[in-house]
Amino acid sequence: MPGFGTTGDYDERAATWDDEPDRRARSQTVARRINDLVGPTPATRVLEYGAGTGLLGFALKPFVGHMTLADISEGMLAQVQKKIAASEMTDVEWRRLDLTTDPLPAERYDLICLQLILHHIMDTDQILTALRACLAPGGVLVVADMDLEDGSFHREAYEGYFGFEREPLGEKVLAAGFASVEFDDVLTVHKVRGGVEREYPMFLMIART
Ligand SMILES: C[S@@+](CC[C@H](N)C(=O)[O-])C[C@H]1O[C@@H](n2cnc3c(N)ncnc32)[C@H](O)[C@@H]1O
Repeated sequence: MPGFGTTGDYDERAATWDDEPDRRARSQTVARRINDLVGPTPATRVLEYGAGTGLLGFALKPFVGHMTLADISEGMLAQVQKKIAASEMTDVEWRRLDLTTDPLPAERYDLICLQLILHHIMDTDQILTALRACLAPGGVLVVADMDLEDGSFHREAYEGYFGFEREPLGEKVLAAGFASVEFDDVLTVHKVRGGVEREYPMFLMIART
């Protein structure tokens, strides 16, 4: 079952995606919290799924080992390729990967991170099961996403979920074969909607195998 997201939209937005300072700052905050709560090492093999331009993955890279940045948008992946080429990093790679339709990759990862992508994927149970299957023994899935909101977060045409309620999401995670799940209040996104500043809390979900 395909995800909700249309790649055309992200293809067009990719070149200016990193221009928003709040977006860059959020990724730094999420990366630091992942480092604090999960404690990766230079041996930790990481997949960032739905990586976009790789804002989270590049922020996390100083704390981890080999990094794979995966997405379905050619525009986003082109930005990732430029960043890899411009960086000194030799152990970062990109790949086109849609775990809603593609066969599972052969690689297994110690840490898989998703930032603001789970709400774009229609079949939550399927993607959680696929992500679980991509983890090495002892691996950890970390999801940074929105708490349930009223639908005002996305201004553009949008067909995904309006965030998640934590408890039902946690139940889905356990049903997908994870041994434990916990939630952390990682940050609050501020956006102006209808001339009023609105707050959208984000959680960090940590699911262990
Ligand atoms: C809201 S953006 C978030 C990008 C990045 N994680 C960030 O926080 O800046 C959602 C991303 O998910 C990607 N995406 C949508 N559906 C996907 C799927 N089925 N598999 C992989 N990536 C997908 C889009 O191309 C887009 O880059």
